Formats: sequence, structure tokens, C-alpha cells
Amino acid sequence: MTFPFEGIALGCDYNPEQWPRAVWREDVRLMQEAGVGFVTLGVFSWALLEPRPGEFDFGWFDEVVGLLAEGGIAIDMATATAAPPPWLTAAHPEILPVDHAGHTLWPGSRQSWCPSSPVFREHALALVEQMARRYGSHPAVRLWHVSNELGCHNGRCWCDVSAAAFRRWLTGRYGDVEKLNEAWGTAFWSQHYTTFDEVLPPRITPAVPNPTHQLDFARFSSDALLDYHRAERDVLRRHSTVPVTTNFMISAHQSEQDYFVWAPECDVVSQDHYLDHRLPHPHAEQAFADDLTRGVAGGSWLLMESATSAVNWQPVNVAKRPGELLVDALRHVARGADGVGFFQWRASRAGGEKFHSALVPHAGPDSARFREVTALGAALKAVGEVAGAPVAADVALLWDWNAWWACDLDSHPSSELRYVDAPHRWHRALTELGATVDVVHPSADLSSYRLVVVPTLYLCSDELATALAGKHVLVTYFSGIVDEQDHVRLGGYPGAFRDLLGVRVEEFAPLRSPVTLDDGSGADLWSEVLTTGAEVVASHVDETPAVTRKGDAWYVATRLDEAATAALARRVAEAAGVRLADGARPGVEVVRRGRYLFVLNRSDAPAEVAASGTDLLTGEAHNGKVTVGSGSVAVVREGT
Ligand code: GAL
Ligand code: ZN
Repeated sequence: MTFPFEGIALGCDYNPEQWPRAVWREDVRLMQEAGVGFVTLGVFSWALLEPRPGEFDFGWFDEVVGLLAEGGIAIDMATATAAPPPWLTAAHPEILPVDHAGHTLWPGSRQSWCPSSPVFREHALALVEQMARRYGSHPAVRLWHVSNELGCHNGRCWCDVSAAAFRRWLTGRYGDVEKLNEAWGTAFWSQHYTTFDEVLPPRITPAVPNPTHQLDFARFSSDALLDYHRAERDVLRRHSTVPVTTNFMISAHQSEQDYFVWAPECDVVSQDHYLDHRLPHPHAEQAFADDLTRGVAGGSWLLMESATSAVNWQPVNVAKRPGELLVDALRHVARGADGVGFFQWRASRAGGEKFHSALVPHAGPDSARFREVTALGAALKAVGEVAGAPVAADVALLWDWNAWWACDLDSHPSSELRYVDAPHRWHRALTELGATVDVVHPSADLSSYRLVVVPTLYLCSDELATALAGKHVLVTYFSGIVDEQDHVRLGGYPGAFRDLLGVRVEEFAPLRSPVTLDDGSGADLWSEVLTTGAEVVASHVDETPAVTRKGDAWYVATRLDEAATAALARRVAEAAGVRLADGARPGVEVVRRGRYLFVLNRSDAPAEVAASGTDLLTGEAHNGKVTVGSGSVAVVREGT
């Protein structure tokens, strides 16, 4: 993957159409002052670039492009198709998305378009064609940005157009409707289909909808938008050799795109990340999302968007304290980002996002926030040589969007079991110990890892158990239960991993309240009626095994609390010979990226870490030890 920007660039979304011309020059001057290396331009410009059908107004846009180019600011050029203009939805209401209950999602916000609509696609591609012809060889344009966060609000659509597209997708997948009947288990509840024509998207039903129908609809929906991405990309490629990206949304709340399938369709993998203060450990989730983005990209990636402070879409929008911006930005860099972008340049005066933070806040450039942004620009320049350095991990944690879709369907043993919980929990425990974790697809080459973690991988292939044989592996509850069609593996749970782990489970017994295991560990959520010939590491009070070990294969048949998860993570990591970075602890992250050691200290006390070399941020030489103050960060080039 060749990166379009120099070093580790600072970037941001730029929406000049929200401001009078006079502001544009000041913008470029302030961007230079802040060290902005790239801007994403034109994401929501459609209505002003094509004010009437087929009538384009590029004058004002050319002016902005010219000012940026003159100012030496590189452009990540959006195709401008994310939000259709009102004239389009008024003339073609059939492009509007429809929810599972049949409600139309009306215009008035953004992304009100159906992913499968040929009418939308025709109009959007006509605009992409104009953009590609006009800017495809402009020297300032270094990256193409397809649409924006594809699927952010319209990831799934249940309209009649989508229904027809779903049927075509199913015909391609199964060929014969009897194969669909077999895969969906339609012998159940009189659901047998005689032709593909009878199939609808999984719209609202009186009772439990067919699970494989829902799973296939999730797959179809991811594919439908990916197909749309390809269509835009192919137009761009016809007119331009500039690399193409589209910004992903890897987060705890956005499950609809299978980015392992999407990534190979992008020249550069880019990702948006916002700290989510609704979660118990927002920074740990950031680290997880970064490690997963690296897994998806297979190496370096670009952080396209993040926030300099608060967002506007959480119930309470937490502002960053002084210093947090730098630490949070460098966390992305430590975990493989080769550029740090933000939404957006200037905080809007009007519109739904006016209380979202920006590089230039409402207070203006004479503000602590803008001074921190400028300091960040300088810091990213100082760490520029890190770009391209690989992150070396001893631990692989397996992740699969298909498993997420299937695991979180209804009518399971406990609605409180959610897919993302165990991956986040084990990732956090391991990173707090100082392990570096790659989050990868179950089909990834696992040969170089010392330990493989398999958290609640409810759905998986038959081959996975073979790939794991002989490795140090830790599997948690509700893994290996079903095949890719969501059919249960018979003979006892955990189906795929019964032999690997040497356990057999006859029933699940979800817990309604927390329990204490015989070794004092706290646990909750889940237990299993489990028998084993393997070593029992911990049991429930009635002596049912809760944690077992068959050689190097560990099984955790309950949800351990944080302390017990941390203790077991240490035991398993040590047994597997996983290298644990010196000085790591809760609140202190230590990550090695190539020859660079990142120490990020969010704890209340100074952190001391063994290191020799030069701190890229301060220029200081360290001989054997680096001390990083509370709320601060060091990036040490190790060696002399
Ligand atoms: C992203 C989106 C941006 C902006 C941002 C606010 O989802 O791509 O356009 O809305 O969120 O946090
Ligand atoms: Zn639709």
C-alpha cells in the first residue's frame, strides 16, 4: 500500500461551502499554521456542485482547490455523492431507503438513498464522472474518497428495489431454491419456498424471523454497498491513477459492513474513530478498533476522521481535557495509523453538527483548542519517520463480522450476551499486560503468533479447529456453536472446538446474577453444563468446570470479571511465551512499532519504562529508562 501523504500527516474534513469566500483564504493560512497536511474536500457538496439536474457549477470549487494547492495542502477528494440534493429525492422518491417496518426514511438529513437503487447510482456516477475528469490529474489531489462512511445511516434497506436485488444475490449464492431451503432450514414453521420470487427481505414479522434469512440479508447488505463502492471506484480509475479509499467505521456500534471483504477493494484503508463515552472503557475500545483496522488493512492505515474534543451525537458529549488530544492521536499512530485526520476544520455555525468540535472552534483560532491542534501538527511532523513501520504482535485475536451478525440475533440463550463484549474484554486484559494484539480474520495465517484468542466466535468454519491444533489457544464460551449457515453442530457444544479443548457441553445455563468460582474469581452472564477429561482450572460451587485446560488449549466457559480476566490473561500469556512490554499497566500503554516505542500514560502517576534511544517529541536522549508524566506520551526511537 503506497501512502499518499508525507510522513504522518495531520488532516481534516473541510466544508468551505458553509463559509463565505473571505474565510477561505484565512482557512488556508491557519491550516499552514496548524501544520495541516491534507484535507478531505467535497463530502457534502453535491447540491452546490450540481444545483440542477445535469447542470454543474464547479467555479467556486475550483477556487477552493486552487487556494489549497497554492497553500501546499494535499487533497483527499470526495466524490461528493454521500448526500443526494433535494431536487433528486423530489424527482425520484423511489431512491429513498425504507426500514424493516416499511417506513420511508425521508430527506432532510443525509444519506437518504437506497444502496441498491439504479436511479441513485446513475445520478451519482454521473457526478463522479465529472469529478474524475475535472480533478483526476490535479497535482494537489492525492487520494480519492468514495462517498462517505458508506452505510452510516443507510446500511440496510428493505424497499422493493432492495428486495429484488436481494433475490438476485440469493440466486447467485444458491443457484437452486432447494439449496436456499436447506441453508435456511425452512422445514421449520412452514417456511419452504418454491421459487426465489417468493423471498422478501426480513421485514417485520409476527414472531421470530428466520435466523439464516437475517444472516444472509446482513451479508447481502454489506455486499450491496461494496458493489456501489466498486462502481464509483471504477469510474475514478477510468480517468485517474490517484489511489482510492472509502472511510470505514470500525466501532462497537457499527456492525453492518464486513470490512475484511471491503479492504481489498481499496488502495488505502482508511477508518474513522470517535471515542465512545457510552462504553465502560472508551480508550480500550479505541485501541481495539485500531488493532482491528490494522488487521483489516494488513498493515498501515489512515485515520480519516476523529474529534479534537467532543462530538454531538452521544447523550453527554465529553470534551477532551488538556493534553488528551495528543495522547489519543498518538495511540492511533502507535497502532499503525500513518496519518491522523479529524472531522472537521472549522466548527459549523449552523446545522445538525454545530456543537461538534473542530480544529478551529467557535471561539476562533485564539483558543486553547487551536493551540493544541497546532502543537499536534508539530508533534506529528516530529514522529513522521514512524510512517510505514510495522507493528509486531505475538497474539492474534480472531474477529469475524459474520460471527457478530449471527451471535447477536434474537432467540439465543441470553439476550445479554453480545458479540463485542468478549473480544473487547480479552483485548484490554492483554494490552494492559503489555502484549501487542493483532485482531484478524479466522482464516488469517496464524503461524507466527504465540497465542491465539477466540472470543465468543459463535459462528465459524470447520477448518478453524484444524488451524488452531497444536497452538497456544484460549477459547471463550459460545464459540464454535454453528457453521456458516447458522446450523448447530450436533453431539455437544462447543461443536467445532470439542476435541481441541477436550470438553463436552450438554446445556447452556446463563446466569442471572454474579457468582464466585472456587478459586475466588468473580463471574457472571454465562455457565455451561460441562464435562471434561482435561485439567479443571476453576469450578462453580457445584463443581461444574468453569475454566479448563487441555495442554495449551484453554477454555473459559463463563464470563470472568475484570480481575479474573486479567489474572488468567497473564497466566495464559506467560505459558505461551508472549512478550510483555516493560512498564505496561492499566492506564499505561506500551506499544512497539518497528524500532519506535510508544508510551501513552493516561494514569494519575508517572510511568517508568525501560528504553534507550531518542524521544522524537522532545529530542531527549534516554539511557536505559524513560519517565512519562501523567497524561503525557513519549515516542522513543530505540537504539543509537
Ligand atoms: C462521521 C461523518 C462525518 C461527521 C462525523 C461527526 O460519521 O463521516 O461527516 O458527521 O461523523 O462525528
Ligand atoms: Zn432499498
